[in-house]
Amino acid sequence: MALIQHKNVQVRFDQQAENSANYVLPFIAETHVINAATSVMEVGCAEGGVLLPFLQKGCSCVGVDLAEGRVEQAKEFLIDYVQQAKATLLAQNIYDEDFVEKYQGSFDIIILKDVIEHVPEQGKFIPHLTRFLRPGGQIFFGFPPWHMPFGGHQQICEGKLASKLPYYHILPRGLYTALLKALGESEGNIVALQEIWDTRITIGQFEQFVQQADLKVLRKQHYLINPIYKYKFGLQPRKQLDFIGSIPYLRNFITTCVYYTVGK
Ligand SMILES: C[S@@+](CC[C@H](N)C(=O)[O-])C[C@H]1O[C@@H](n2cnc3c(N)ncnc32)[C@H](O)[C@@H]1O
Repeated sequence: MALIQHKNVQVRFDQQAENSANYVLPFIAETHVINAATSVMEVGCAEGGVLLPFLQKGCSCVGVDLAEGRVEQAKEFLIDYVQQAKATLLAQNIYDEDFVEKYQGSFDIIILKDVIEHVPEQGKFIPHLTRFLRPGGQIFFGFPPWHMPFGGHQQICEGKLASKLPYYHILPRGLYTALLKALGESEGNIVALQEIWDTRITIGQFEQFVQQADLKVLRKQHYLINPIYKYKFGLQPRKQLDFIGSIPYLRNFITTCVYYTVGK
């Protein structure tokens, strides 16, 4: 069911910024200094709220997203920083040659928050990200792993049952699609949910891609209750219990969000 942040872009921006200030920035600051000399890129920046706390610390920031409309919104929200040349916001694909040429070796920190689960071929995408890092640079990933109760993003469904039913996204694609149809979801929503099914990523797959890209996990935090559930469901964030985090199969089903910073 549509939440207020789905309809109101100001609310969405404010939530992105508050979550970033309270969780994303402090998490990254454990392994990397964040000050006026730090250059940051957010891939999948949407309205740009995640970047705001970094800009407030004086960082130089580039936000890039495939969704042109969302980038235009970001330019409005971050207009002061754009005018000071502290923020650059681009609707572009990071595989574009001119983007690579301009920004390779440019960033101390790259942020992907709630993005990697939407990206196809993560095994190719994660190594590509490393091209943009300065020596000693780090990449932050925060995402909802596939097997968690709402890992299919079914909360976006219009129907009450379809949006509240946990775990059914794990069904084979055809069965999942048939169930969404039977529950009365629109064609547009079904296509969006199929795309997420196609790009799904588990905790184990993510860690494997990181290892294959020759990156090391510098810090990780698993959450039983995702910090952004405060805005979605009114729930207080809760870290995952350590012993559950160490049981691979079980942890997959009851970890609603993971944060990682990785580097060489
Ligand atoms: C769920 S939103 C997350 C927005 C923001 N990072 C946040 O945490 O609120 C995912 C965003 O990633 C963007 N995105 C998906 N794949 C992308 C890609 N390959 N390159 C750049 N942006 C991408 C989408 O357009 C969308 O704006």
